[in-house]
Amino acid sequence: MTTGTHGKLTIRKSRSGDLAFIESLYPAAFREEDLLPLVRAMMACDEEILSLVGERDGLAAGHAVFTLGSIGGTERKIALLGPVAVDPNLQRSGIGSAIIREGLRLLKALDVEQVFVLGDPAYYGRLGFLPGATVKAPYELPQEWSQAWQYMPLADEDIAGEGRLQLPDFWMRRELWGE
Ligand SMILES: CC(C)(COP(=O)(O)OP(=O)(O)OC[C@H]1O[C@@H](n2cnc3c(N)ncnc32)[C@H](O)[C@@H]1OP(=O)(O)O)[C@@H](O)C(=O)NCCC(=O)NCCS
Repeated sequence: MTTGTHGKLTIRKSRSGDLAFIESLYPAAFREEDLLPLVRAMMACDEEILSLVGERDGLAAGHAVFTLGSIGGTERKIALLGPVAVDPNLQRSGIGSAIIREGLRLLKALDVEQVFVLGDPAYYGRLGFLPGATVKAPYELPQEWSQAWQYMPLADEDIAGEGRLQLPDFWMRRELWGE
């Protein structure tokens, strides 16, 4: 838990009582993209995700999901970060970053070796995500998204894995990875 100029911030695993918050959060945070079908499918697969809620002064304010997966043909444990959303009224006060950092800490404790993300390098680069992942996204990404495909090594020894990310079914839809 951290207390700063914006009030007390707590990060915890989500529970079933958070579903109403999550259902209202995503349409508010993503005005041009309907992520609810994906998020609902994820929330129904408890064992394959790490779902975290950030609370500001005891009230749910943000949410992020990490999906556990592997690299095709290997035993290597990896995770994919996304989506991440923060209440538009509370953005830019450190909630998104705090949820992501806590997720990375928990995943490292689970011996996850790398975490991948498809997102804006201006945001994820600040958190330590790196460009140039040798492991590929589940589908071929559009050329203009190549910089958005980033990774973070969590293991002490960097694994230069190759191959494709293997993820649960809810991520295996072409349209989630660009046309
Ligand atoms: C992106 C998002 C999750 C970040 O969470 P947050 O709590 O607002 O961000 P933090 O306070 O942790 O970090 C703030 C810093 O990140 C950067 N930042 C925030 N949102 C950004 C964005 N969309 N693009 C680039 N940089 C961004 C800013 O530099 C900001 O610092 P500044 O205020 O000093 O300029 C949140 O803004 C959000 O829900 N946005 C809409 C949904 C979305 O785009 N999700 C991410 C894609 S999966």
